[in-house]
Amino acid sequence: MNERRQQDGSMAAERKGALRLEHVSRSFAQGAARLEVIKDASLTLPRGEMVALVGPSGSGKSTLLHIAGLLERPDGGEIWILDNPSSRLSDARRTELRRTAIGFVYQYHHLLPEFSALENVVLPQMIAGRSRRAAAERARELLGLVGLSQRLRHRPAQLSGGEQQRVAIARALANAPALLLADEPTGNLDQHTADDVFALLGKLVHEMQVGALIATHNLNLAQRMDRTITLRDGVIVQL
Ligand SMILES: Nc1ncnc2c1ncn2[C@@H]1O[C@H](COP(=O)(O)OP(=O)(O)O)[C@@H](O)[C@H]1O
Ligand SMILES: [Mg+2]
Repeated sequence: MNERRQQDGSMAAERKGALRLEHVSRSFAQGAARLEVIKDASLTLPRGEMVALVGPSGSGKSTLLHIAGLLERPDGGEIWILDNPSSRLSDARRTELRRTAIGFVYQYHHLLPEFSALENVVLPQMIAGRSRRAAAERARELLGLVGLSQRLRHRPAQLSGGEQQRVAIARALANAPALLLADEPTGNLDQHTADDVFALLGKLVHEMQVGALIATHNLNLAQRMDRTITLRDGVIVQL
């Protein structure tokens, strides 16, 4: 019965959009003026869809990802994560939602240097309340999926750039998020490695039915995603 209820619950969760932005705006003070970086941005990202976020440097891609990831608040508008309107949540609930429903991948891996690949994937799960044993089991499974079964005990400095990003992807998916936000995730890698890491990311996003919003400069990568959103002068243009 309990298992049945959980299944129904997760099916309902899959029908919800991973992310919805509604009339989001964000500006920064620039001397006496204000720099309007995001103007009235709205978008819906269902689970299982991989969307490219493109735009020139300084167009607001990182700002939009920070807002979508509840790391920054917008000046106006609403961010929905799995049908939770984030502006109405307490700080504690926002933090919990960020930990459990959202995974982040950055251009630089940001792994903890003193910890092994395995531990880097275990820790976010323990912070979210999973037992060490269950977390380690899932970490092994995820690191296997990203092709690193033979690197569990390596520290980040002992891994190649591509391997570091694979660990970062496993870490981002550790708590089975509905939403994955990635900021130029292959930007530091050579072309061949970037292609491999990107293909892996796409495979996992689709298999795990994660909604993914991926900022990239690389139009070849953008073309390999399900849809492209362009930021131009602070406005979202959907192609
Ligand atoms: N905290 C901040 N304070 C002031 N200006 C900022 C801040 N964060 C970003 N900006 C400005 O907003 C614009 C968009 O930045 P960003 O989102 O990093 O763009 P992108 O990721 O597309 O390169 C830039 O002009 C940047 O200088
Ligand atoms: Mg950026």
